[in-house]
Amino acid sequence: MIETLNSRLGELLPRIEGLLPQDALSLLSKEFEGKIVFSTSFSWEDQVIAHMILSQALPVRIFTLDTGRLFGETYYVWSRTNEQYNTHVEAYYPNQEQIERFVTGKGPNAFYESIENRKSCCHIRKVEPLQRALSGNQLWITGLRSEHSPERGDLPQLEWDDTNKILKYHPLLHWSTEDVRSFINENGIPYNTLHDKGFVSIGCACCTRAIRPGEDFRAGRWWWEDKTTKECGLHAHS
Ligand code: ADX
Ligand code: SF4
Repeated sequence: MIETLNSRLGELLPRIEGLLPQDALSLLSKEFEGKIVFSTSFSWEDQVIAHMILSQALPVRIFTLDTGRLFGETYYVWSRTNEQYNTHVEAYYPNQEQIERFVTGKGPNAFYESIENRKSCCHIRKVEPLQRALSGNQLWITGLRSEHSPERGDLPQLEWDDTNKILKYHPLLHWSTEDVRSFINENGIPYNTLHDKGFVSIGCACCTRAIRPGEDFRAGRWWWEDKTTKECGLHAHS
């Protein structure tokens, strides 16, 4: 089954090549109906994708991983999205026992104390819920863009994720920040207002800050850590 799914890459790539993202999403949503999901963090690239899915009423389930530590602004844009598109973005939460044990044992801000703690926190709050959300699906849509980091620069738009055993599609991989901003403005899409305040990549409130001019895109994420350790485990290569 997994073998077959992986081998569909070769057949699908030429079919989506050259299509606008909204058209490729439409094609894939029909091809994988009932087994295709989109993960949103309510970043502006994710809002563009949500708009493409919801305005065309494509059969794609949309979910978010609520870590419990998100910004108030993120919850606000989540509500606005539900209202504007008359939808209910699905919420996934950390496993209750795991998070209670972790916070009780290590305290509420243990992620600042060691990389090990930080990775455990990301695993409990994001990775394990992600695995549940992806389970039983065949195609996972994300908002990854090449501009985010050198690692993301080399990604194929449609790829095989061997960690999660799923096909992964990044519709906006080659869009610039300006492309994203213009699409948001032209289509009246609700977006996270932190993007107007120097926040580029937005995750948990306690682990994200605005970047200064000249800093790279992900400099505001886990800013106290060395560049080499900065990944939360959602995307194995980035
Ligand atoms: S991360 O790996 O550093 O956390 P990033 O914030 O760049 O990821 O977001 C890249 C993509 O990962 C998003 O476009 C979205 O598809 C997915 N993602 C990140 N955080 C979440 C979240 N909390 N809930 C759902 N999807 C998320
Ligand atoms: Fe925990 Fe910070 Fe990772 Fe959020 S980003 S899951 S608070 S370590």
